[in-house]
Amino acid sequence: MKILGLESSCDETAAAVVENGTHVLSNVVASQIDIFAEYGGVIPEIAARSHLEAVLPVIDKALKDANETLDTIDAIAVTHTPGLLGSLLVGTLTARTLALLHEKPLYAVHHLKSHVYANWLYTKYDIKFPVLALVISGGHTQILSMPSHNSFEIIGTTKDDAIGECFDKVAKILGFPYPGGPEISKHAENGDPEKYPLPIPKVAGLDFSFSGLKTAVIRKAQSIANLPISYPSHDIKNHLTPEQKNDLAASFESTAVKILLEKLDAALPSCLYSSIIIAGGVSANSLLRKTLGKTYKNLPVYFPDPKFSGDNGAMVASAAFFEIESGVKPTNPYSLTISPRSAIS
Ligand code: KG4
Ligand code: ZN
Repeated sequence: MKILGLESSCDETAAAVVENGTHVLSNVVASQIDIFAEYGGVIPEIAARSHLEAVLPVIDKALKDANETLDTIDAIAVTHTPGLLGSLLVGTLTARTLALLHEKPLYAVHHLKSHVYANWLYTKYDIKFPVLALVISGGHTQILSMPSHNSFEIIGTTKDDAIGECFDKVAKILGFPYPGGPEISKHAENGDPEKYPLPIPKVAGLDFSFSGLKTAVIRKAQSIANLPISYPSHDIKNHLTPEQKNDLAASFESTAVKILLEKLDAALPSCLYSSIIIAGGVSANSLLRKTLGKTYKNLPVYFPDPKFSGDNGAMVASAAFFEIESGVKPTNPYSLTISPRSAIS
């Protein structure tokens, strides 16, 4: 079964054709990163307009790269929640129109489910259930229990900022461009992770908190630069040396990874899992990949291929395939709804 997957929930317009949930026939991503690097973050109105310009050419290229047409594919899948409303509207309206015009079944997919399914793309291995999934992205930080395909229970979530958001905010404080995650990693490679110890937040159970870590970085940076705690965070970067920035980046990154590991450790004994899956944009992080390795506490650890860790259409097509396999019926194109926030189920 060949599925055209569309993704437009944030600042990537993406389309892909995937066969049987795992075999990627094409994958096209038009990123708006260059536009938002200059603003230091995503501007929803601009994101929606950029999706409008990109969506049809991106779909066209994905179909051509796969040697398919809208008539030869079997189904269309699209992200409908969570995300920026204007961005979701562009993707879903396009998908609804194409499904109606070409009489194809339409599947509306949850964005976090797609991130998890990025781990099934190109996999020759058989990921064993039950799975413990750590979803770490710009908008979410969750631990999911996944007993079987298309079945999820949230067992931990962030109380405030998402981890990717925290990487982006800390990068901005240090004067690095958006998106901050890869920039922090790059600078951290030349820094000392032990130089500026940062506190690990105490949060009950399997939940997370990242806003305190961001504040701790601001306070540490102010004290290194001999600035008062009232000093505006947007200007601290002008008082830090490149070496201090590298050390702060390394100290922050290692603390963020320690927080993830602490909760992963806490989650593992709560149930018997057979595999660990890491998903979402932050799963590209090389320190996390190195720290967890291929096995952790005797369990196999899976990371998506780095090209599928960020937002893409292939993971949407994969998630839809496994939904179909689990008996999920197509969505009515006339009544598909979008939502900025909703829990995975
Ligand atoms: O999953 P994603 O592409 O979009 C959302 O669904 O939010 O995640 C984007 C996030 C951004 O916050 C970005 O800074 C972060 O993933 N990210 C990273 C790395 N690459 C991207 N964070 C840490 N290390 C990285 N190498
Ligand atoms: Zn995402």
